[in-house]
Amino acid sequence: MAEARKKITLPYLFKKVADGEPITWLTCYDYPTAYLQEQAGIEMILVGDSLGMTMLGYESTLPVTMDDMIRHSQAVRRGAPTAFVVGDMPYMTYQPSVETAIRNAGRFMAEAGCDAIKLEGGAVMADRIKGIVDSGIPAIGHLGLTPQSVSALGGFRVQGKSAELAKKIVDDAKALEQAGAFMILLEMVPDRLCKIITERAENCIIMSLGSGPDAHGQLLIYHDMFGLYPRFKPKMAKVFGNAGEVILNGLTAYHDEVISRKFPQQENWFGMPDEEYNELVKMLGRIK
Ligand code: KIV
Repeated sequence: MAEARKKITLPYLFKKVADGEPITWLTCYDYPTAYLQEQAGIEMILVGDSLGMTMLGYESTLPVTMDDMIRHSQAVRRGAPTAFVVGDMPYMTYQPSVETAIRNAGRFMAEAGCDAIKLEGGAVMADRIKGIVDSGIPAIGHLGLTPQSVSALGGFRVQGKSAELAKKIVDDAKALEQAGAFMILLEMVPDRLCKIITERAENCIIMSLGSGPDAHGQLLIYHDMFGLYPRFKPKMAKVFGNAGEVILNGLTAYHDEVISRKFPQQENWFGMPDEEYNELVKMLGRIK
């Protein structure tokens, strides 16, 4: 039998970086998927506020609440006891003040057993990161395409293509690192910008989502990988299997078999002994 995996810790992640080995990271929002990701050896799990779109069917991530996030994070923790689970702070749970940020970050740790939190934004969020880290909670920054600001950014598009905007992202990354972020996620920035930020990082792990191969590891959205999000598929997502198609075929077959009375068959139901059945019929006869 394969040896059970040890808990993934911060020192483990930094050792991977030192050894030049890429870190694997996926989104996940529920118990059975977390169980499968744990079995597959995925090291980090992001309980992303993208669950607002992928699981709850909202048009954006903005309506997601802390209570939504805590419930899903708890389910993921139960399914993946050794993965490094990151709770994603939803819209307006850290922007108002440092104190709000610390309180809500604390909920992920105390109520859901998360290992770290992630929040979106650059230098303007450095004081939130510092406050959270000073409270003993590992924090991850998120730069580039930050979905909570999608309206201000002008849509789901690559960020930092001009030298000026790229320089701002480089400066933001340094500010987050100096504030104590142990990791920064770069979403949809050009590959060469990601490489520069990764090379300049001193004590900070850089992860890529659609930002090329030169980061310390990769993140993908689980629903995009398996054809499970019906509205669109971003370019950066490779489809590793079409589970959506498999499930749709199964559902159609179920529908057809029920209406044609092919399902259920004897092996799909439960019987009772003849004597008990006969006794029941007698009892019902007497009652009548
Ligand atoms: O919510 C999420 O899944 C995220 C990813 C888009 C990085 O923040």
